[in-house]
Amino acid sequence: METPGAGSPDFSESLQQVPEATFYRFPLVPVHGVPLMKPIATSWERIEKFQARPDDLLIATYPKAGTTWMQEIVDCIMNEGDVEKTGRAPIHVRFSFLEICFPPPVPSGIDVLEATASPRLVRTHLPYELVPESFWQQKCKVIYVARNAKDSAVSYYHFEQINKTHPDPGTWDEYVVKFLKGEMAWGSWFSHVLGWWNARDKHDILYLFYEDMKEDPKREIRKVMKFLGKDLSEDVVEKIHQHTSFTAMKENPMTNYSSVPSSLLDQSEVSFMRKGEVGDWMNHFTESQNKIFDEEYRKRMEGSTLTFRCKI
Ligand code: A3P
Repeated sequence: METPGAGSPDFSESLQQVPEATFYRFPLVPVHGVPLMKPIATSWERIEKFQARPDDLLIATYPKAGTTWMQEIVDCIMNEGDVEKTGRAPIHVRFSFLEICFPPPVPSGIDVLEATASPRLVRTHLPYELVPESFWQQKCKVIYVARNAKDSAVSYYHFEQINKTHPDPGTWDEYVVKFLKGEMAWGSWFSHVLGWWNARDKHDILYLFYEDMKEDPKREIRKVMKFLGKDLSEDVVEKIHQHTSFTAMKENPMTNYSSVPSSLLDQSEVSFMRKGEVGDWMNHFTESQNKIFDEEYRKRMEGSTLTFRCKI
């Protein structure tokens, strides 16, 4: 079988050509009630009509849930632990970002996907309700990764500081309120994790948790292998485990986003591979922020069987 995602065109060069001001802090525009960055909202019709293929593999997450980590694990599994193959290109080239849209000459996620040979590796931050219908019609496999709300908020706050396409996150105090209201790109964490949770038995969806991956990475790697129908030896599982550790991925230029220009992703003070921990929220939430958060959390998650761990 052809290496999945091997046929995706490398658009890295075009990213280098874009003038700095082009990427600057896009406003959010609601699409079916979900705030998305303006270039995505403007192209929504085309995104909605995207034609999935049956062998497309989709990784879906709310931002900062461990998307990149899962992408690297999946690529390693697909390539049976051959890390030379996974080192063929940066992670954002190996997996196409379904809904992403930048001004020309950078191709949109859909432009890239249409030019990619099957089988394609796709990632999205779209809430379940906004995923193009063709993924369900084609019965595509989907891996969803969820991360506890407090660590997601802390990670997203730092990411929005360094990712210059996102709106300015403001102060941490303002951000906690914004996060609870879902006023950030891709909308509410609550609606996202619950929407995908409620859909998990309707389609071929594997729903995983960042905290479980941290607790026992090999156990979670085996779950993904099973889901993808791959039977790999324990030696290969160990190799994948090592290759996808936080330390290894932080050093790896194919996973740490160092090839993205700093005008778009400024890693001079905060790295994309920032901490990679469960419970970092405890270093950021004040007592009163925590109280407000917990109260809202209880209301929003009431009645759901979905539970998270904020410590392991
Ligand atoms: P932190 O900001 O808490 O460090 P995404 O890929 O969805 O944008 O998620 C990024 C978050 O996942 C960051 O969290 C990043 O450090 C963490 N991450 C990436 N690779 C990881 C790994 N191999 N192990 C643990 N965490 C990882």
